[in-house]
Amino acid sequence: MTSPIVIGIETSCDETGIGIVSGTTLLAHQVASSMDEHVAFGGVIPEIAARAHVTEFLPVLDAALAEANITLDDVDAIAVTAGPGLAGALMVGVAGAKALAVATGKPLYGINHLIAHIGVGFLDDVGADLHNVNQLGALLVSGGHTEMLKINSLTSDVELLGSTIDDAAGEAYDKVARLIGAGYPGGPVIDKMARQGNPTAFKFPRGLTAPKFMGNAEEPGKDRYNWSFSGLKTAVSRAVEQFELRDMNVPANDIAASFQEAVADVITHKAVLAATEHGIDHILLGGGVAANSRLRALLTERTEAAGIGLTIPPINLCTDNGAMVAALGAQLVADAVEPSPMNFSADPTQSV
Ligand code: KG4
Ligand code: ZN
Repeated sequence: MTSPIVIGIETSCDETGIGIVSGTTLLAHQVASSMDEHVAFGGVIPEIAARAHVTEFLPVLDAALAEANITLDDVDAIAVTAGPGLAGALMVGVAGAKALAVATGKPLYGINHLIAHIGVGFLDDVGADLHNVNQLGALLVSGGHTEMLKINSLTSDVELLGSTIDDAAGEAYDKVARLIGAGYPGGPVIDKMARQGNPTAFKFPRGLTAPKFMGNAEEPGKDRYNWSFSGLKTAVSRAVEQFELRDMNVPANDIAASFQEAVADVITHKAVLAATEHGIDHILLGGGVAANSRLRALLTERTEAAGIGLTIPPINLCTDNGAMVAALGAQLVADAVEPSPMNFSADPTQSV
């Protein structure tokens, strides 16, 4: 049988993404983002995101079909992000996907967004041979998630090893950027500022690394592989205050560099620890924060030192997109997994 052609639809946050794959071959990858409309508010406004998905759904679909040079008749299945994400935003994608499925009679798959971030790693375009890895793990870091996962089976058994107990890493970047007056979204700006700053100027806390949280390998603490970024954000806020109270210039570049170092250090430390203690021999990195230069460098260094392989997909496949949803959908079709019932709902709090 030829590889199934699957359309993937992603609308969980501010990106309207529609991708098309044939098996593991990427045929189309179209994304429209409403980020420009959120910048003035310093964060994604759910109502604006949902409305933008309504506007963009059909143009992005048309662009994807044109890029793949196919029509809806050629499609074997439709996949759509069911959760987690913003409720109203998810509902637009799910409703649109259901309409397409009813109109075309094609099977429909409701997809978990987190697992789709991993599914994208199996596309030929990523160039990694993840099928030949003994035990795959995934580190997802974005504005909405910070998770370490163990992938026993992509389509049926993904285990959550650790996650943030408060802010996502990207969220912490965005909040700290606001504190130092760096604009939104904060990640890229802080990354740039950090290049001009000293990463050891401030000793910012690495959350949940005290022995009472970590325990040891034999008796792991509850938060051994979990992250917390709220204390770090407070520490940055206090540092900024100290300078402002004295009417001194805030050393924004040093704060950015020291904050970035703290985030990259604690994320990579716990991810590599979780991998080592769970027999994971290859990590796939995903999410928008995968663009961060320090996180990439430190994760490369620490996985190499631990003898763990690392795949970082091209950044436009790390950030939210439809190709990842299509990639996972194609694997579900290949594994003969039953399509979702037509009455499934968007699930904003869905876990793995
Ligand atoms: O995956 P993504 O596009 O959307 C979701 O949040 O799901 O990730 C966006 C996040 C934002 O918080 C943004 O500040 C962060 O990724 N980001 C970065 C960098 N580029 C984007 N964070 C750190 N360094 C970067 N270079
Ligand atoms: Zn995402």
